[in-house]
Amino acid sequence: MSTFVKGLEGVVAAQTEMSFIDGQQGILEYVGIPIGELSEKSTFEETVYLLWNRRLPKKDELAQFQRELRSRYYLPAGMANRLMALPMKAEPMHVLRTMVSALSMHDEHPDANDVESARIKSLFILARAPAIIAHFDRYRRGLHLIEPDPSLSFAANFLYMLNGEKPTPTMERAFDICMILHADHGLNNSTFAARVIISTMSDVYSALTGALGSLRGPLHGGANEGVMKMLNEIPSIDAVEDYVKGKLERKEKIMGFGHRVYKTRDPRALALKKLAAQLAKDTGNEELYIKSSRIEEIMEREVAAKGIYPNVDFYSATTYHCIGLRLDLFTPMFAMSRLGGWSGHIIEQLHDNRLFRPKAEYIGPHNAPYIPMDQR
Ligand code: SDX
Repeated sequence: MSTFVKGLEGVVAAQTEMSFIDGQQGILEYVGIPIGELSEKSTFEETVYLLWNRRLPKKDELAQFQRELRSRYYLPAGMANRLMALPMKAEPMHVLRTMVSALSMHDEHPDANDVESARIKSLFILARAPAIIAHFDRYRRGLHLIEPDPSLSFAANFLYMLNGEKPTPTMERAFDICMILHADHGLNNSTFAARVIISTMSDVYSALTGALGSLRGPLHGGANEGVMKMLNEIPSIDAVEDYVKGKLERKEKIMGFGHRVYKTRDPRALALKKLAAQLAKDTGNEELYIKSSRIEEIMEREVAAKGIYPNVDFYSATTYHCIGLRLDLFTPMFAMSRLGGWSGHIIEQLHDNRLFRPKAEYIGPHNAPYIPMDQR
């Protein structure tokens, strides 16, 4: 009789060759390559190739992958009109989840889930996520849509469609690093959701739609928006100490801190902290960065002993703000990148599938009588 483990904490529920995480040492590797190396030397497109193929591409293989991805940037006919029929007030994460699901209706064989079909569908969805988000954001701002530019990288094309102008090399690189850092992270809740759904031999669209639903939760990918709301709520740098201590006293969680696996610094937070510092300086947002580092100092003093450190969401908030993204686009950014990791896990699950079907420990009554209505 196996014992009940709440939240499956510490339970190994899958094997993967994609991300290695050591929560005690603060190590994250994608197919064995340290995340710091990749964020410094790789690109998001190359990282997705690495995650899907378990090795870095040769020059011609990367060029071929880029062609496969970039040639799919355009939305299928009719999708843009469907986007612009949505309420302008709709939340971008709900829009992304809905439109990824809708993409299945533009696929002649939506249910094909052999490994190669899954790879092509994953490309189809990953390549179009930027247009879904950028088109919706411009539509709700009353701006005309900007068609994708297949000559641009994944990162540059998104910023181009969002802002109507090509990004500076600095902004493109900063955004590309964010995409690398968010691409995969072991069996987090949304990745588990994707694997559970595809394990029934359902389709890639359903599995990614389920993962999107999980990611938006404030305990997961939704935290980056929570961090920004917190930074906006704190009236000044001097008010940080009282604000943080007040929340801790009320047992309220500080968004962007803590992690189920990391009990030391999340290596992604370290990389994003550097990026945030540079971008805050370049864009005149130093106060945001100083507030963030002040929060980190106070949390270090108050709760580091409990293994609570900044996670990936803490400094990504300042980074995305400095790149010029609206607050409710932060989680969609996380999702856009994690579509790469989720797809890799879907392909991995299909390679060696076993239906996920854990047990629930029944703790209710037995042999209970059926009480007639007039006696209840
Ligand atoms: C992501 O799994 C992944 O890999 C996820 C992710 C990925 O790449 O996919 O890394 C991305 O989701 C990062 C996490 C983003 N979420 C947040 O920033 C939300 C705030 N964080 C917390 O909700 C929390 O830290 C979790 C959910 C992330 C992890 O929580 P656990 O493992 O369930 O830990 P817990 O809630 O049981 O907390 C243990 C203790 C508690 O104190 P006690 O009751 O023991 O006294 O630590 C405290 C908690 O109150 N605590 C916090 C805290 N997080 C935990 N206290 C204040 N602020 C926090 N943020």
